[in-house]
Amino acid sequence: MPVNLLLDPVARRREHARSASRRRARSIARDVRSMRAIESPSLRLEPLAAAHADEMFRPMSAAAIYDYMPGQPPTSVSALRERYAHLEKGCSADGSERWLNWVVRLKSGECVGFVQATIYPQLSGDFAFAFAPAYWGRGIAFEACRAVLPGLGRDFDVRTLFATVDPRNSRSIRLLQRLGLVEVQSVRYPHGDVAPDDRVFMVVCG
Ligand SMILES: CC(C)(COP(=O)(O)OP(=O)(O)OC[C@H]1O[C@@H](n2cnc3c(N)ncnc32)[C@H](O)[C@@H]1OP(=O)(O)O)[C@@H](O)C(=O)NCCC(=O)NCCS
Repeated sequence: MPVNLLLDPVARRREHARSASRRRARSIARDVRSMRAIESPSLRLEPLAAAHADEMFRPMSAAAIYDYMPGQPPTSVSALRERYAHLEKGCSADGSERWLNWVVRLKSGECVGFVQATIYPQLSGDFAFAFAPAYWGRGIAFEACRAVLPGLGRDFDVRTLFATVDPRNSRSIRLLQRLGLVEVQSVRYPHGDVAPDDRVFMVVCG
């Protein structure tokens, strides 16, 4: 007899929710496996993996990166590897969030930063990025983000993408505007509370 028929209605509903969540996690895992490397004129964006920690430790260690962004420099290569191994899973434990992370590599070989999108069940996402200060002011972040954006709608069904920014982070604000995101009121941010004073930007994905 199917296990389902042995359960009382409440347990059956719970079992149903659990298997729906397992199905969603499996389908998300499939999507994440389909993450591909992206090439742009001067960059290669690689799906982030634990193995990138060795090369990313140095570029991500500059304190200035965290002036206006949550987080701190990694304490060691192994701590960063552990974090990347977690992110490499590609989704949250309950399968409700997809985590897409690309390491940005110059064609000359160095890893210089990352681009990240977190996708929520309502198919809206959060966008973030960070680059080593030695590579700021050269249009590298712009080229990397511009390479990622079209695929978010096309390959991952993202409809709207948001970014929240510390108002002092003028580089990030200029980058978001150059990428075509427009400022909206913080009440329109759908993924929780916005830190006081943070500015919210949004774009509808084509
Ligand atoms: C936010 C961040 C990625 C912006 O980096 P950036 O290098 O300033 O961004 P861009 O790639 O758009 O480069 C823009 C600069 O390059 C210049 N540039 C040179 N060639 C360019 C090109 N081909 N295309 C575009 N810009 C170019 C622009 O004129 C601009 O210079 P300016 O800063 O003097 O105006 C970087 O400051 C960072 O990593 N900060 C720390 C992490 C962080 O705060 N993340 C955001 C959290 S919301």
